[in-house]
Amino acid sequence: MVVTKTLTRRQRIMKAIITKKYGPPEVATIQEIEKPIPKENEVLVKVLATPVTSGDARIRGLNVPFGFKFITKLMFGFKGPKNPVLGVVFSGIVEESGGKVTAFSKGDAVFGSKEGFGCHAEYLVIKENGAIVHKPEKVSHEEASSIPFGALTSLKYLRDFGKIKKGQKILINGASGALGVYGVQLAKYFGAEVTGVCSTSNVELVKSLGADHVIDYKKEDFTENPETYNIIYDTVGKLEFSKCKASLNKNGTILLAAAGLKEYSQVMSTSISGSKKVVAGVAIFKKEDLKVVSELVELDHIKPVIGRRFKFSEIVEAYTYVDGGHKVASAVLKL
Ligand SMILES: NC(=O)c1ccc[n+]([C@@H]2O[C@H](COP(=O)([O-])OP(=O)(O)OC[C@H]3O[C@@H](n4cnc5c(N)ncnc54)[C@H](OP(=O)(O)O)[C@@H]3O)[C@@H](O)[C@H]2O)c1
Repeated sequence: MVVTKTLTRRQRIMKAIITKKYGPPEVATIQEIEKPIPKENEVLVKVLATPVTSGDARIRGLNVPFGFKFITKLMFGFKGPKNPVLGVVFSGIVEESGGKVTAFSKGDAVFGSKEGFGCHAEYLVIKENGAIVHKPEKVSHEEASSIPFGALTSLKYLRDFGKIKKGQKILINGASGALGVYGVQLAKYFGAEVTGVCSTSNVELVKSLGADHVIDYKKEDFTENPETYNIIYDTVGKLEFSKCKASLNKNGTILLAAAGLKEYSQVMSTSISGSKKVVAGVAIFKKEDLKVVSELVELDHIKPVIGRRFKFSEIVEAYTYVDGGHKVASAVLKL
């Protein structure tokens, strides 16, 4: 009797990375918590790989663009993350599906993004109609998990915010980061002429992703050469609109993935006057877009890029790497 009880409890327990207060990487610790139970419209996924994204690091460290601390606390929790299990993307196997689920069954290989975090754990539950699709067979779970954060954000920025068109010239600043590596591949898919900006050690990677030109920012400042672009996509958060305005064509757009209050005021002012626009926003990850990305993976238009792999137990090392600001593509935790 006692044995059965212990066994049942064991089966309901899982390991998760818990962040109860904002702070340095060390605030994230591995603990045992209750395994979630899927509702009738949800699936329970056994997580096999989950990256530590710049988004997780921002929330864990409350390291947000200027002017956004209060609103971030309002949304995510005042003393610490409301959901202590961070992690926005995953790849894994469906372990159980709720009674009303029709699209997924036990054993299916899936990947996606969970709204409101919860992926840095051995198991997660996600709504059937959330951002979850079957994993393309040609990529591993680690590779699949590396895709949604960067690809879904860059898809939103390039296709919807930037309205990228065939033949346009685009410069991607931070071309070797998670957003950058998929930004380069998506911009090529959309038929643009792509210039990637990165540091010396990442030049070959960015070229291998299809960039037509690569600028090593350690050797050259693109704002000082006469080349102009239809779109400048900044994934780094270090470009000043005033400094790179001259590098935009007439009617050109600068897309800012990491905008603060000052940049959002430029979004407002340039939407009213001036031919060159500043555009920024939040990319919401949707199932339809994940399907698009998944299909592009199947068709070899997008290949996954993993910069570093960590064991689940190496979460502090992984966060320290991500906090450094020079992450190459994705930092994936293996479970
Ligand atoms: N708006 C949204 O909805 C949304 C969604 C997702 C992410 N984001 C934001 O987007 C940003 C980028 O995310 P990420 O995951 O791609 O970050 P990441 O993987 O850490 O990449 C950052 C990149 O910046 C490059 N970099 C650092 N200093 C640079 C400099 N001075 N000049 C040019 N490049 C430089 C690094 O390349 P080197 O190593 O070569 O220096 C690195 O590849 C984050 O701030 C994140 O919060 C926004």
